[in-house]
This record gives sequence, C-alpha cells and structure tokens, in this order.
Amino acid sequence: MAQAVIAIDGPAGTGKSSVSRGLARKLGARFLDTGAMYRMVTLAVLRAGIDPADAQAVGDCASTTRMSVGYSPDVGSFCLAGEDVSAQIRGDDVTRAVSAVSAVPVVRERLVELQRAMAEGPGRIVVEGRDIGTVVFPDAPVKIFLTASAETRARRRNDQNVAAGLADDYDAVLADVRRRDHLDSTRAVSPLRAASDAIVVDTTDMNEAQVVDHLLQLVTQRSGALR
Ligand code: DC
Repeated sequence: MAQAVIAIDGPAGTGKSSVSRGLARKLGARFLDTGAMYRMVTLAVLRAGIDPADAQAVGDCASTTRMSVGYSPDVGSFCLAGEDVSAQIRGDDVTRAVSAVSAVPVVRERLVELQRAMAEGPGRIVVEGRDIGTVVFPDAPVKIFLTASAETRARRRNDQNVAAGLADDYDAVLADVRRRDHLDSTRAVSPLRAASDAIVVDTTDMNEAQVVDHLLQLVTQRSGALR
C-alpha cells in the first residue's frame, strides 16, 4: 500500500499544502491533508470545553470523535459528526491549540491508524504532514521534505492572512511560526524532522509553480518505485 504513497513533510509556511494539492492535481492522485485531521481533533477538544493541556481528556476526546476527511485536492471536506468544519478548523483558536493536542500520544496513534487505513484504495495518494515519511509511511517510495527560512514562511503566512481579510501582523506571525517550529520539532512523540531518505527541497527562492514542477520531476524520476 505504501508503494502508492508520495509523502510530503515540512514545517508550516513552506507552501506545503498548496504544492501538495497542485502535485496531486497534476498526477490525478488522491490527496490527504493530515494537518487538517489534527485540527479537527483540536476543534472537537475546544468545543467540548477541554483544556488542550489535559492529555488524558484530549486523548479520550480523540478516541470518541467521529470524523470524515475528503480526498480531493480541490475541495476540502472535513466533517465532525456530520458537520462540515472546513472553515472552523483554520481559525486562530484552533491554530493556537493544535500543537498541544498533536503532542498527545493517543491522538497521534488514533490519527496515524486512520491515515494508514485511508491510504488504502485505488491509485496514488499524496499525503502531506509532519511525520508522513518518518512514522506513518516509512516505506513510501517518494519522500519530500520542504523547508524555507522562518522569515519567508512568516511573510507567506501573513500575505495569506491579509488576502483572507485577517490582520496584517508580520511580527506576530513570525513569532507564531517560531513557536510552532519549536513545539513541533521538540515534542517527544514523532518530532518534526526529515526522514533519512527524504529529498529536502528549500522553497525560499521558489514560487508555487516552480516547486510543483520540481516535485513532479522528482516523482517522475522515481515513478518506477510507485505502484
Ligand atoms: O499543516 P497544519 O498547519 O495544518 O498542521 C497543524 C498542526 O498539526 C501542526 O502544528 C502540527 C500538527 N501536525 C502533526 O503533528 N502531524 C502531522 N502529520 C500533521 C500536522
């Protein structure tokens, strides 16, 4: 099953989501946004009034939450107990709490199990996240790790915020990028790091189309290894 997986990992703001979607579109592949799954559990935790630092309660919530996740690179469809929460999972409150929730081992176990089950099925699948090449699909034939400087990532995220009508605050975004980098790379379970056999792509000086083209070339070179 991992023979059909293209794993794309990296920190926030590397353009990972857009380029993973763009790559899946060009390949006619399915697409799985695992960050959205951690965000869905976080939303469920916040809605239940649970303190994100209460690992026991967070783990219980993750085990009982009913979620469904769409596979299309074009329309995100993320449902919690039947309700479409695609917009709500991008909110500031969820973004602030998601690192704490995703550090809880029970949460990770449940979501990794779901991600493996979801990758079963026809054709190739682009799976993007933080631990896809290291933990979820260590046997994936194509593993890509995207990087970019913290400043570049903060600028991109701030530009997205402004385009979405949110506050223009580069310094706050840069502080948040650094805070999340630190939390994600130092947590005990599945810290963010490139798999030893991942291809590291620095996107600091590349635009989205250039990154997608570059990834497409990498996938084509390795297509013999893909199912
Ligand atoms: O990619 P994103 O910003 O939507 O991810 C939200 C959070 O989820 C991020 O802070 C790290 C966490 N995450 C994770 O721990 N493992 C993954 N495979 C994907 C995301």
